[in-house]
Amino acid sequence: MTMKIRKAVFPVGGLGTRFLPATKAMPKEMLPVVDKPLIQYAVEEALEAGIEEIVFITGKGKSAIEDHFDAAHELVNILEGRGADWLLKGVKDVIPAHVRIIYTRQGDPVGLGHAVACAKSIIGDEPFAVLLADDIFMGEKSCLSQLIDQYDGGKENLVSLMPIPKEQSTRYGIINPRNGTENTKIAISGMVEKPTPERAPSNLAISGRYILQPEIFDYLASVDKDGKGEYQLTDAIAALVDHQDVFGVKVDGERYDCGDKFGWLRANLAFALKRDDLEGDVKQMITDLLRENS
Ligand code: G1P
Repeated sequence: MTMKIRKAVFPVGGLGTRFLPATKAMPKEMLPVVDKPLIQYAVEEALEAGIEEIVFITGKGKSAIEDHFDAAHELVNILEGRGADWLLKGVKDVIPAHVRIIYTRQGDPVGLGHAVACAKSIIGDEPFAVLLADDIFMGEKSCLSQLIDQYDGGKENLVSLMPIPKEQSTRYGIINPRNGTENTKIAISGMVEKPTPERAPSNLAISGRYILQPEIFDYLASVDKDGKGEYQLTDAIAALVDHQDVFGVKVDGERYDCGDKFGWLRANLAFALKRDDLEGDVKQMITDLLRENS
């Protein structure tokens, strides 16, 4: 039976320590790239890919995310009264009426694997997507849509992949290809979370989008904590590979790591340069700044 991907899990309970003090009282997922919070990029990506149920795994201090996706009648009324239609677009009907949002809390932020496991009873017995809001993409087709295009509708698991310089392997989950790596969709025989370059099985890193089968929950329940006391999704998928197919999909497009200061700044400039209303001024600003600081 072919299964449609209807549900998507957004783990948003992490502490965001890399952005302190900005994230002391504000969720890192609410950091803007130009004028839209990171989480909205990921949610829009999911909606575009046909997701109908959004599951946020939140935590302490994350209520701004709930407020952000709530109806904002007062604000809408004010903007309508002012005739500010261009602003209304980004505020009203962000979530279509047929899409359901569910919030559940991760008591302790003890890793991505633990966060995903918190969605077990909401997901039930169907395949689902996971989107990490730190990773945003720019390209013709969204990252999740590219994964869904490659999904055969059966009992297989997919992760999005990008090539990295091996010295960056300590930042990512790195896959072990089963055979070759030439095709867009490649079979995976293992994966390691943030290995040293010497231990990295390839230069292909997981870039923050997953399609998983519900069987993953059994493996999430039995993974051990890593050295930092966190349960890793990568370890659960690595345990799953002997029982179910796991593939990587090399996705087209540019990926920005907004969990990192440099990646976030880069995303802001790159997205601004793609906007007709900002491009010219931003180019001038960059030229001026380079001249002033050379
Ligand atoms: C997480 C995953 C890692 C993946 C990365 C992509 O790490 O654990 O496997 O490669 O996202 O951004 P994090 O960035 O949360 O440390």
